Amino acid sequence: MDPITNPFAPGAGTPPPELAGRDDLREAVRVALERVRRGLPTKSMLLVGLRGVGKTVLLDRMRDDAEAAGIHTMRIEAPENRSLPSLLAPQLRQALLRLSRNQQAKDLGQRSLRALAGFVKALKLKYHDIEVGLDFEPEPGLADNGDLEHDLQALFETVGATAQKARTALVLFIDELQYVEEDELAALITALHRCAQRRLPVTLVGAGLPQLRGRMGRAKSYAERLFEFPEVGALPPIAARIAISKPVREQRVRIDRDALERIVTETKGYPYFLQEWGKHAWDAADSSPITIDDVKSASISAIAALDESFFRVRFDRLTPAEKKYLRAMAELGPGPHRSGDVAEQLERKVTALGPMRNKLISKGMIWSPNHGDTAFTVPLFDAFMHRIMPGHRWRE
Ligand SMILES: Nc1ncnc2c1ncn2[C@@H]1O[C@H](COP(=O)(O)OP(=O)(O)OP(=O)(O)O)[C@@H](O)[C@H]1O
Ligand SMILES: [Mg+2]
Repeated sequence: MDPITNPFAPGAGTPPPELAGRDDLREAVRVALERVRRGLPTKSMLLVGLRGVGKTVLLDRMRDDAEAAGIHTMRIEAPENRSLPSLLAPQLRQALLRLSRNQQAKDLGQRSLRALAGFVKALKLKYHDIEVGLDFEPEPGLADNGDLEHDLQALFETVGATAQKARTALVLFIDELQYVEEDELAALITALHRCAQRRLPVTLVGAGLPQLRGRMGRAKSYAERLFEFPEVGALPPIAARIAISKPVREQRVRIDRDALERIVTETKGYPYFLQEWGKHAWDAADSSPITIDDVKSASISAIAALDESFFRVRFDRLTPAEKKYLRAMAELGPGPHRSGDVAEQLERKVTALGPMRNKLISKGMIWSPNHGDTAFTVPLFDAFMHRIMPGHRWRE
């Protein structure tokens, strides 16, 4: 069929033609944010899930929902090796300039911009990567101690008071939160906690890999009580069918029932894979309806496309020794696996492999569902490792 009208959208953070199966989560966040705006007790939400399950597009949709309801938002993606203050400062400035347009909130808005100036000035030495234009002189003693935990708290308090005056809420949407350093996470948690205690309308909606939950707990032991960690996972069959059938139907094309079922089973309902299979099945079909034979040939080209993009970008970030570790895991199947079993495959001691395992966790390649267990953060990665490093030569 005409590739120009192909509705499917495989890609990192690319909005799907149909955001299937996420209505309950969107509603839960809508309710939480509305409560925050009204000063009612609420937990911040952190979406956790594997690679390619749709955390980023869901976060973006939630943000659109919030903006449509008149809530002010900030959008941050935490890359590896950037400090949280450097990510927050420019976004906060923008948000404060916008809030200051509200007559009621103007004075507090300016005070917050002074707090931001003090914050940046005091922390610039420690976090060299902060770069932001400042609109006002600092107010001595306001958020300018040079201690992140203290200053962020003071900053968030004035920001919260500003949002409250403007009768709105300010919501931080932060993606890839697992990459934020633990002491910076701790400061963020403290600042949010302070706002929650004072019923100030500032909150966080975050997203990250499953290791985020443990990281938050290690950063602040009370984090588990402050946050909810809804899981974003593969779509159940009903939603997976809709993810494919609805966009197809909207283009006035049909898909055979067995062809649709085949896509659902092959992808196991993983959103990224659904988009890839949908795209390739569409392109493989000569005309409507899309048949099972189209899906069969799509499976080959979809896997090849995934190997070249989705899987490949992860694989290319690994050292040879790390590749070998993951290949050893793959040898044992999809997982999770005991660290001892992986070590046995490699004929090494568990303790000797500890540092590499930690590095792979911090790179976001694996995580630990339970103490001593190791699992891939990328769905179906074990099969990919078999394809890219076939046979037994990897052991050499
Ligand atoms: N609910 C959904 N229904 C259908 N397709 C979806 C859904 N959610 C996400 N997708 C598609 O899945 C792909 C991956 O989405 P996204 O980049 O948001 O995942 P992610 O969890 O942020 O991945 P990563 O951890 O790699 O950043 C995109 O092509 C997107 O269009
Ligand atoms: Mg993402």
